[in-house]
Amino acid sequence: MTEKTQYLIDKLHTTHRLELSEYECLIERMDAASRACAAEKAVAVRKEIYGTDVFVRGLIEFTNYCKNDCLYCGIRRSNQSADRYRLTPEEVFSCCREGYRLGFRTFVLQGGEDPYFTDERLVPLVRHIRTSFPDCAITLSLGERTRESYQALFSAGADRYLLRHETADPAHYAKLHPAALSWQHRMDCLQELKSIGYQTGCGFMVGSPYQTSHDLAEDLLFVQEFQPAMCGIGPFIPHKDTPFADRPAGTLEMTLFLLSLLRLIKPDLLLPSTTALGTIHPLGRECGIEAGANVVMPNLSPAGVRDKYLLYDNKICTEEESAQCVACLNLRMERIGYRIVNSRGDPPDADRLKTCFDTD
Ligand code: 5AD
Ligand code: FES
Repeated sequence: MTEKTQYLIDKLHTTHRLELSEYECLIERMDAASRACAAEKAVAVRKEIYGTDVFVRGLIEFTNYCKNDCLYCGIRRSNQSADRYRLTPEEVFSCCREGYRLGFRTFVLQGGEDPYFTDERLVPLVRHIRTSFPDCAITLSLGERTRESYQALFSAGADRYLLRHETADPAHYAKLHPAALSWQHRMDCLQELKSIGYQTGCGFMVGSPYQTSHDLAEDLLFVQEFQPAMCGIGPFIPHKDTPFADRPAGTLEMTLFLLSLLRLIKPDLLLPSTTALGTIHPLGRECGIEAGANVVMPNLSPAGVRDKYLLYDNKICTEEESAQCVACLNLRMERIGYRIVNSRGDPPDADRLKTCFDTD
């Protein structure tokens, strides 16, 4: 590790911000020593706020129909081999009931951009979950919708919304998406979500095709400026039926390094150790926590549809039952000295955050 790298990690640790060129320099020069240094600081920062708590979110993948054609994604519209399914609102609700029984207090409703799920269908479902489980957080991950739709779902009781920005660089965005999708529109959606009052999550893939160190630096700068409540990152993994089938996957090392930098950028960030990370390495999710992540998202979808929500090849947990994943993750987290907590898992409020760092 060079002196410059050490200096930049220290600076990020104390000020939580860097210039674009400084992020780029860190990414270009990443090595085992700089990864260890960033991870040590990230874990210390997280410990101040969250101790050894890891939050769980129950993920319900309720439709794999999608009107979009993102070049990297296994459920893209043009993939004729995808076996399409959608759960009924009743089935989604019973996943929540099962999740509640298993201890979950956050449900994440995720799906492709499926025109079937109009506000007329979704709003009553969200309202029903809200009134049935008043102590739970409802997170939506449904892609790009109108401001009116985001507002209606928020008013019905949704608390959080995940919409990965995918890449903060417009030219890179254009290489990963068909012309019908616009980087500007995605960014506008993120601003709308935040202004409505959602706890908003952005995120990006690590090692996606055509990605440069400069692009990744822009992603970090975007997170620094946007100040999301959550940020989902994971390695790009090729899917055999997409135009990027032959591209290499993103690396474990770069993903872990970026998780640590994200923790230093925003100490209270809700940062998942993703399924994609667990897919490229058997201990990927544990490594993610040890690099600074503090959220895991086991799958609550019914066993019969799990092997159909395939954004990339070799996805883990497609043959498990919800209860098995819960038990497995509990054990995995305990083994590395962490503990899964069954709360809504909100970030601490501003006062509490202040006392964390005043006592330093
Ligand atoms: N590899 C890794 N992540 C992917 N996603 C979509 N396709 C892939 C892939 N091939 C991610 C995108 C999307 C999220 C739901 O999954 O970032 O926003
Ligand atoms: Fe699903 Fe381990 S988390 S089997």
